[in-house]
Amino acid sequence: MPAWQCTVVRHCLPVLLSVHNDEVAKLIDPTIRLQASFLAAVNEFHEDRDYPTPWFVDDVDPAALTDTAAFAAYVTRVLSERDESARRANWFVPMTTLWWAEGDQMLGRLAIRHRLTPPLEKSGGHIGYDVRPSARRQGHATAMLAAALPIARSLGLMRALLTCAETNTASQRVIEANGGQFIDRVGDKRRYWVPVS
Ligand SMILES: CC(C)(COP(=O)(O)OP(=O)(O)OC[C@H]1O[C@@H](n2cnc3c(N)ncnc32)[C@H](O)[C@@H]1OP(=O)(O)O)[C@@H](O)C(=O)NCCC(=O)NCCS
Repeated sequence: MPAWQCTVVRHCLPVLLSVHNDEVAKLIDPTIRLQASFLAAVNEFHEDRDYPTPWFVDDVDPAALTDTAAFAAYVTRVLSERDESARRANWFVPMTTLWWAEGDQMLGRLAIRHRLTPPLEKSGGHIGYDVRPSARRQGHATAMLAAALPIARSLGLMRALLTCAETNTASQRVIEANGGQFIDRVGDKRRYWVPVS
């Protein structure tokens, strides 16, 4: 078990876990076990008319990922993005992607960027998250971000920059429920510092 998971389990159980339908939602590493649910979630995101399609959804070809080997390769790639030494486009920073899962159901996805670049300082920040449309308005994003903050701390962040669109009321509430302190507006984005411990 990675060190951050030990830390989370020991100290952060109350905010890490969210109980729905007698199952426990938690952050997990991307895994081939959730292939079917991941692909169903991707379809939901494509059909969502309330929000723009998340970039991680645009990044995948769901038809190709029905192949088990292709999905395994995708999971391996996503996991490798957290390695400092991994090859990546030069505008990318190392990033830890985690899935919010309840049993075999993938409910959401969250990514912690290990450091900022000038574009990320304006928009994007350290942490991004998405909850699949069928799982929204059940507290998942609020609980998922709470669970991610100690992980961000274990990755060396002293505080996390979060940004959201001025029009994204739900995301503002998620950030503020996690202690977000409003910094300013940059373009159409609101920026917040969120304490990680
Ligand atoms: C924004 C998003 C992550 C919220 O996820 P969620 O799991 O529904 O959020 P929660 O259930 O934790 O709700 C958080 C708060 O927002 C409110 N909320 C949720 N959806 C809302 C909506 N469409 N309009 C207004 N308020 C909303 C909830 O009532 C809750 O308010 P409360 O704290 O006063 O109870 C989700 O809608 C999503 O994935 N959107 C697309 C991607 C995105 O915008 N990501 C964030 C980018 S900054």
